[in-house]
Amino acid sequence: MAVVEPSELLSLAIDLVRRAAVGISEQREAAVTSIETKSTPTDPVTAADRAAEQLVVAGLAAARPDDLVLGEEGGFRPVGTATTPTELHGSGVRWLLDPIDGTVNFVYGIPAYAVSLAAEVNGVVVAGVVRNVVTGEEWTALRGGGAWRDGNRLRGSAVTSPGRALVGTGFGYAPERRREQAEVLLRLLPEIRDIRRIGSAALDLCAAAEGRIDAYYERGLNPWDRAAGGLIAEEAGLLVTGLRGDEPGERMTLAAPPALHASLHDLLEPLHA
Ligand code: IPD
Ligand code: CA
Repeated sequence: MAVVEPSELLSLAIDLVRRAAVGISEQREAAVTSIETKSTPTDPVTAADRAAEQLVVAGLAAARPDDLVLGEEGGFRPVGTATTPTELHGSGVRWLLDPIDGTVNFVYGIPAYAVSLAAEVNGVVVAGVVRNVVTGEEWTALRGGGAWRDGNRLRGSAVTSPGRALVGTGFGYAPERRREQAEVLLRLLPEIRDIRRIGSAALDLCAAAEGRIDAYYERGLNPWDRAAGGLIAEEAGLLVTGLRGDEPGERMTLAAPPALHASLHDLLEPLHA
C-alpha cells in the first residue's frame, strides 16, 4: 500500500474546497430557483449543492482514483476506479464531503454556509478543511498539527463554567427529532449564558475551535457534517465526544474545552436518557 501523506491530502482538499466555494458563489442566484427537498419538506437541496459535490468528486477522482468518498448528496461510492471495499484498502483513504453545510442559510442568503471536506486514512480523520463561502474564512487541521484559521493557531475558549458558556447547537429536519431537541433546550437554556443556532454544524465546530462560542453539541449529525470540523475542534484542544464515554457520532457530538466539558456533559447526559 502506498504511503499516504496527510499534508498532501490537506493541500488537495483545500484546493478543491476553494474551487467549490467559487462555484457556489457564482451559482447562488440560479441555484436558489431550483430547490428540492430531501429527508423532510424542510430539508433542502439545490443545484449548487449537487454541482459543488460533483466538482469535488471529479477533482478527487482525477487526483486519487482509488479513494472512496462519502458525500452528502451522493452517498458512499468510489471516486474513481475502485468498486469494492477490498479496493478501498488499496488506498485506505475515504473522503467525507459536505458540499454546502448550511443549505438553509444558502437559500436565504444568510452568510453562514460552508464547504467541508475531510480525509480519513484507515478510518481515522487526519486532515480537514472548512471554508465559509461568503466570508472566505478557512479553517484547517492536520492530526497532530494543530488547528488554524487563516494563519492563526486556534485554542478554543477559556470559559470553565456552564453558566458563562455560549453554547452552539443545531436541530435536525425530522419533526420528532426537533421535539426532543426543543425539550433538551428548555432544560439547558436556564443553566447557560445563551444558545447560538448558526445553521451549519461545520461552522459551529470551527467557531468552538476558535472560541467564538464556548462549546457546541448536537444530536443527529451525519459523518460529513462533523468530520472536518470535529478534527479542527480537537486540534484546537477541545474534547470532542459523545455521551457517557462514547465516541462522537449520530447520537451526540459534544465539543468543549477540557475545563468545561465534564460539567456540560453532566447537564446534557440526563436530558438524553
Ligand atoms: C445541517 C446543518 C445544521 C444542523 C443539521 C445539519 P445541511 O446540514 O449543519 O446546522 O443543525 O443537523 O443537517 O443540511 O445544511 O447540510
Ligand atoms: Ca450538512
